[in-house]
Amino acid sequence: MEVIINVKRFDGKKVWYQEYRLDVEERTTIVEVLMEIQSHIDPTLSFRVQCRAAICGTCGVKINGEHHVLACKTKVKDYIKDGKIAVEPLSNMNVIKDLVTDHGQFLNKIKDVKGWFEPVKDFQPVYPEDLQKFGKETDCILCGVCHSVCPAFEMDRDFGGPINFVKVFRFWKDKNDALKDERIVLAEKNHITSCVHCKYCSFYCPKQIPVEQDIMQIEFYGKQKGIIKKEPGGGFSTPFGF
Ligand code: SF4
Ligand code: SF4
Ligand code: FES
Repeated sequence: MEVIINVKRFDGKKVWYQEYRLDVEERTTIVEVLMEIQSHIDPTLSFRVQCRAAICGTCGVKINGEHHVLACKTKVKDYIKDGKIAVEPLSNMNVIKDLVTDHGQFLNKIKDVKGWFEPVKDFQPVYPEDLQKFGKETDCILCGVCHSVCPAFEMDRDFGGPINFVKVFRFWKDKNDALKDERIVLAEKNHITSCVHCKYCSFYCPKQIPVEQDIMQIEFYGKQKGIIKKEPGGGFSTPFGF
């Protein structure tokens, strides 16, 4: 079938939408369409792609202005409206060119919560039941989809962001991590309570990580321990009243 692909372009100075017409099959993905355009129609189009298997986290884009997805995991046919589909860069980060965004904006934040493993001296054996406590969070591919969809940045530019709190959760739940409750202190310093619990991060995460639930658990524990003093929820309500 023939489809019109409307791509949001940016050349460093101006923004415009460019229309491309091409034939797609049932199985054609967004990334395949972008590669076809770049190879055979318009070599000036820029986008990111590496693994094409939902593993590297590099190909995040926004579809039809509202769906934040991995381009390599998303079929064109599922998003066609009246024969058209719009492809735009992810939100909440600067655009470098066309669909290429600055991932540094969320990757650099990870150091604010020490988002890495700090091993204890007396390392304990690890069993499958230990791994289950943070198995989903280990799957994070740093794609930035949750960062893109998160409305909390509009209210608080210093909000640490969903990725940071996935990292906090992953290491806080690891019995061989030395930081323990210091991780909750870091979450508090990174404004975890500015999360408005809209659940968009959990809904759009391509790895089905329960991001919002993780944030709730950290906040609940932090409140009980007296580490988190501010009321969770950012003091704002979402369209869904969460
Ligand atoms: S639940 Fe919290 S972290 Fe997730 S998208 Fe909503 S505001 Fe952002
Ligand atoms: S939590 Fe999910 S959406 Fe967010 S960066 Fe990790 S894999 Fe991507
Ligand atoms: S190209 Fe690697 S996740 Fe899409």
